[in-house]
Amino acid sequence: MSGGNGAGRHAVAVTVNGTEHAREIDPRTLLVHFIREELGLTGTHIGCDTSHCGACTVLLDGTPVKSCTVFAVQADGHEIRTVEGLADGNELHPIQEGFWEKHGLQCGYCTPGMMLTATELLRRNPDPTEAEIRFAISGNLCRCTGYNKIVEAVQYAAAKLRESSDTADASDQETREMTA
Ligand code: FES
Ligand code: FES
Repeated sequence: MSGGNGAGRHAVAVTVNGTEHAREIDPRTLLVHFIREELGLTGTHIGCDTSHCGACTVLLDGTPVKSCTVFAVQADGHEIRTVEGLADGNELHPIQEGFWEKHGLQCGYCTPGMMLTATELLRRNPDPTEAEIRFAISGNLCRCTGYNKIVEAVQYAAAKLRESSDTADASDQETREMTA
């Protein structure tokens, strides 16, 4: 933890989407406000302020957290991933592609949080059942879609990620055979 500076401000240094940011902030600042207002990353939404909706979900050291329930100072020294960190340049992440292809959003308010939660699910469970997907996103509320299209979007991303990991495995195998 970085220390306070004696003027009611507190030094915080976090890595967000691979970039380090250091700020002096009011220790009561919530992580969601820090991300949106200090860093200008407004893809992280605020939907309720009562820790129910999940619109503010980000990954903190890879774990989904509702960033309206975390003080920014608690994230000091840690890694955060927001929706802005999903795409690789102009190339959409498979979960983004899934939401696009399967029409997994309407107003889009819940979408960043949904996608980050789903990304973490697919990291630990590359082939989830429909029930597992529904359980994983149960902390993220959507008022528009009825969830079916979101589930299809996650299934699309799961298949795509499995396909690319099979391709990577095959190419590793080929390299090993060539260098053996
Ligand atoms: Fe954080 Fe709703 S704004 S859970
Ligand atoms: Fe509108 Fe989910 S798309 S809240």
